[in-house]
Amino acid sequence: MHHAPLQNAAEPPETEAPVVLSMQDIHHAYGRHTAVAGIDLTVHQGEVVCLLGPSGCGKTTLLRIVAGLEVLQRGHVAVNGRALGRPHVPPEHRNVGLAFQESALFPHLSVLENVTFGLESLPARRRRERARELLALLGMERHAASYPHTLSGGQQQRVALARALAPEPGLMLLDEPFSSLDARLRDRIRDDTLHVLKKLGAGALLVTHDPEEAMFMADRIALMRDGHIVQMGTPRELYCEPADPFVVTFFDTVNELFGEVRDGRVATPVGEVAAPKLAEGEWARVMIRPEALRVEALTTPPAPTHSHVVMAKLLGRTSLLHICAHGAGGREAHLHARVPGVFLPEEGQPVSIRLDPSQVFVFAAGTSPAHGEA
Ligand SMILES: Nc1ncnc2c1ncn2[C@@H]1O[C@H](COP(=O)(O)OP(=O)(O)OP(=O)(O)O)[C@@H](O)[C@H]1O
Ligand SMILES: [Mg+2]
Repeated sequence: MHHAPLQNAAEPPETEAPVVLSMQDIHHAYGRHTAVAGIDLTVHQGEVVCLLGPSGCGKTTLLRIVAGLEVLQRGHVAVNGRALGRPHVPPEHRNVGLAFQESALFPHLSVLENVTFGLESLPARRRRERARELLALLGMERHAASYPHTLSGGQQQRVALARALAPEPGLMLLDEPFSSLDARLRDRIRDDTLHVLKKLGAGALLVTHDPEEAMFMADRIALMRDGHIVQMGTPRELYCEPADPFVVTFFDTVNELFGEVRDGRVATPVGEVAAPKLAEGEWARVMIRPEALRVEALTTPPAPTHSHVVMAKLLGRTSLLHICAHGAGGREAHLHARVPGVFLPEEGQPVSIRLDPSQVFVFAAGTSPAHGEA
């Protein structure tokens, strides 16, 4: 798309980067229950791709298929250009690193021995050097001689990551590896993991159900629902050019208004919104992110009916305003606006509202106007 000036360093790698994982037309069923269907996905060298989606949508199933923990039922899986499905290549011969939420360490081995475990192919001295390098990258060098039961959960998670990364797999598979950690620790280990992955230049497929984690970690996100990929793209593409309402609501709670398309526009209590993709007379679902509402306090109300603040709450970095919006023709709506910093007007404060169109999305609402605005 034409957003060149906004591009940041985390955009997908050049097309020249070799493909480390390719999945085509993957279908997988457990008995009669279809878990994933029609999945196409590639991961390039040096790229972090996140599988994101609600519980049960098939993320772990896909990861297990790549790892070889599930036998491929349909489609093609290749890692570094080598087909792994038929005949089935066992997990230990796939050159992939695995890190799961509860990655168990070997309790009878020290931290160093846990990490050297997967490095049999190297001479003993080189093996220990390599393990120490990885432990250093993850801030665990000091604990090399410790045993797992003496470590905290976060420390164990770091060792598990070091162990998975040490053999320099071409592809890392991570299934919610941070979810057992508390919020602070999670942020730190997430950050460290991202830097280690980028430093080693491996491709990574990371499963998460947390949209913020996906946006933090991913070069590209595959957002899944019910065994399908709904949209695949950079975090910015998913957030700013969502393919459907599910994509919008997965990242954020939004204000929703409905209206009919007239002259290519939908009238709402906060002004008209362009609906270029909808037909004349079609019923439209207008999704307005809370940060799309630009709110300003008015000293003199412009009209007998004006929009006003119902409630204002400080959330920390932002303030959340509950607003009663009054539009032309006596139309009203209760809306949430998120404003940076501390902005806590009194109840009843008259306000003007402008819309930032880049955070407003319009979709066809289907036939029923049942959810019409008040
Ligand atoms: N071994 C199994 N036997 C039968 N059904 C299974 C099995 N594993 C998963 N499923 C089903 O397949 C679907 C996808 O499961 P999967 O574990 O891939 O979801 P997920 O996206 O990883 O969910 P979560 O976020 O909760 O981990 C679910 O409906 C699940 O109940
Ligand atoms: Mg899962």
